[in-house]
Amino acid sequence: MPTTHAQDRAVLSDHGLEIDASTPETWTALAADVLRGLTAEGEKHLPPKWFYDAHGSQLFDEICELPEYYLTRAEEALLRSHGAELAAAFPAQELVELGSGSSTKTPLLLEPLLATGHLQRYVPVDVSPSALAHAEHHLGQRYPDLDIERRILDFTTQLSHLGHRRGGGRLIAVLGSTIGNLEPVEVQAFLEAVRAQLGPRDAVLLGVDLVKDVATLEAAYNDSAGVTAEFNRNVLRVINRELDADFDAEAFDHESRWNARYERIETRLRANGPQRVRIKSLSLDLTFTAGETIFTEISRKFRRETVAELYAGAGFSLDAWIAGDSNEYALALARPS
Ligand code: AVJ
Repeated sequence: MPTTHAQDRAVLSDHGLEIDASTPETWTALAADVLRGLTAEGEKHLPPKWFYDAHGSQLFDEICELPEYYLTRAEEALLRSHGAELAAAFPAQELVELGSGSSTKTPLLLEPLLATGHLQRYVPVDVSPSALAHAEHHLGQRYPDLDIERRILDFTTQLSHLGHRRGGGRLIAVLGSTIGNLEPVEVQAFLEAVRAQLGPRDAVLLGVDLVKDVATLEAAYNDSAGVTAEFNRNVLRVINRELDADFDAEAFDHESRWNARYERIETRLRANGPQRVRIKSLSLDLTFTAGETIFTEISRKFRRETVAELYAGAGFSLDAWIAGDSNEYALALARPS
């Protein structure tokens, strides 16, 4: 396991660290994930959270605009048509948004909550300080009376650092089908951690993508413009920059496929020829055989019953299930049971 002594940090700043949560903890977490994932027995793997440096975040924003990527539009449509209903079901005083990014879609939830007259605070939580600064700036201008308090942390591991609830009426929201990236046991642990941050009168809101026909699902992750492929390869560019590695990103093909058994899209990078890679900061030499894969992401798709079960397993009960007429995407509100 690498250490983050002063020399490592100096090397990093020479390269212009762009994973902006450029804390020693973040660098160490990246180094540890890369070491573990790329030296794994069996298939190599990398966690999807490292897609999101400045460039990766920009690519993700582009994905959200793609004709094939229906998720964002589906969620926005639900917030527009059912936001008031949601706010009436839980008129929050404080909205905590986990994985908020630059909060560009948050007004769709903020506005109906503000309209109830109860919302006082918005707490965007993300690993990207630049995205959070952007969020605070543009939302601060738009909603001058709203108290905005950003938190830079990895909500999958550091949720206990969220800080005390003030007064109550806390709503923790995880939109964008973000929890689709987590394995069932990870969702369970995550929801338990969420539960620990909530009192009996608080609530949680998940935005989840739903199981549907394979063609629609696979198209969403294999866009014709190739943006998702670039997004996928970006993790290699992040590793090159942050860990002084020499991946040839173009030598890896993007692959996203539906796994019917686990009801998830599985995304990989597949070496299109034999590769040698050196990761200097880890003193690691790697080889890839032609066709060898790195598993980079799961995007799970849900059903109402599975979401209700996940909630129940973590001490919540499903309170509102908003899926509209199209039933392609859902907003799932729950309260401590
Ligand atoms: C942000 C995790 C919801 O899995 O759909 C988009 C990320 N990956 N295209 C998803 C993503 C490829 C996205 N989530």
